[in-house]
Amino acid sequence: MSDYASRLAATAATLERIASEFTPAVFASSLAAEDMVLTDLILRKQLPIRIFSLETGRLHAETLGMLDKIKQTYGAEVALYKPDAAAVADYVSNHGLNAFYDSVEMRKECCRIRKVEPLKRALAGNKAWVTGQRRAQAATRTALAVQEDDAAHGMQKFNPLADWSEQDVWHYIRNNNVPYNPLHDKGYPSIGCEPCTRAIQPGEDVRAGRWWWENPESKECGLHLVDGKLIRIKQ
Ligand code: ADX
Ligand code: SF4
Repeated sequence: MSDYASRLAATAATLERIASEFTPAVFASSLAAEDMVLTDLILRKQLPIRIFSLETGRLHAETLGMLDKIKQTYGAEVALYKPDAAAVADYVSNHGLNAFYDSVEMRKECCRIRKVEPLKRALAGNKAWVTGQRRAQAATRTALAVQEDDAAHGMQKFNPLADWSEQDVWHYIRNNNVPYNPLHDKGYPSIGCEPCTRAIQPGEDVRAGRWWWENPESKECGLHLVDGKLIRIKQ
């Protein structure tokens, strides 16, 4: 078996294990390439893992367009979790719509309101959640485990693509005709909210276009932090 084939088999086995041992389970999809691989694996096998997306109110139209593509391709709906409208209104009136450019603190507060708090609601009542994180993506992810004990949310957290390369992701997408966000063909390897993501130049790091005004060490939105720290407890 090639290295790619064995990584794919291990990922499929992890998803099957989650579906049989950790239900109810959910998958957090940003609708970007990695998450479309997992979406395809989950929906083709009709695994009982519910897919949701955090609709921050600041996503690109192309990203939102993936919701229709998923419906057309798989006949499935992605559940959407939105930020608390009053918290967004307070932030905007106190600090300004785009105050996240002013400081790391203001950026983290916007991510807290638009992503971290809605994530808590999305995860409530589940035994496990799944993400599309990969080790090779960032300085903050080099020690990422496939399975982590997420004590903050009181459940297991799975990163079934932890050891996949970017090439693996695109190999799977092309081989299986998986729909993907058209921004990936326009210089966006990593896609988050529209005002916090830009296209990269050839040779730049894949996450260079995310919060490009910050240091690589601070570039996490808080979805994968516990008390401000990364959790890396392998089971
Ligand atoms: S982030 O922390 O920098 O925003 P990234 O875009 O690399 O994360 O995505 C890593 C994983 O976090 C995704 O594979 C997905 O599981 C989860 N994630 C990120 N953004 C969202 C979102 N808007 N909705 C749901 N899950 C998300
Ligand atoms: Fe706000 Fe930017 Fe974080 Fe989106 S990525 S929640 S717009 S700071």
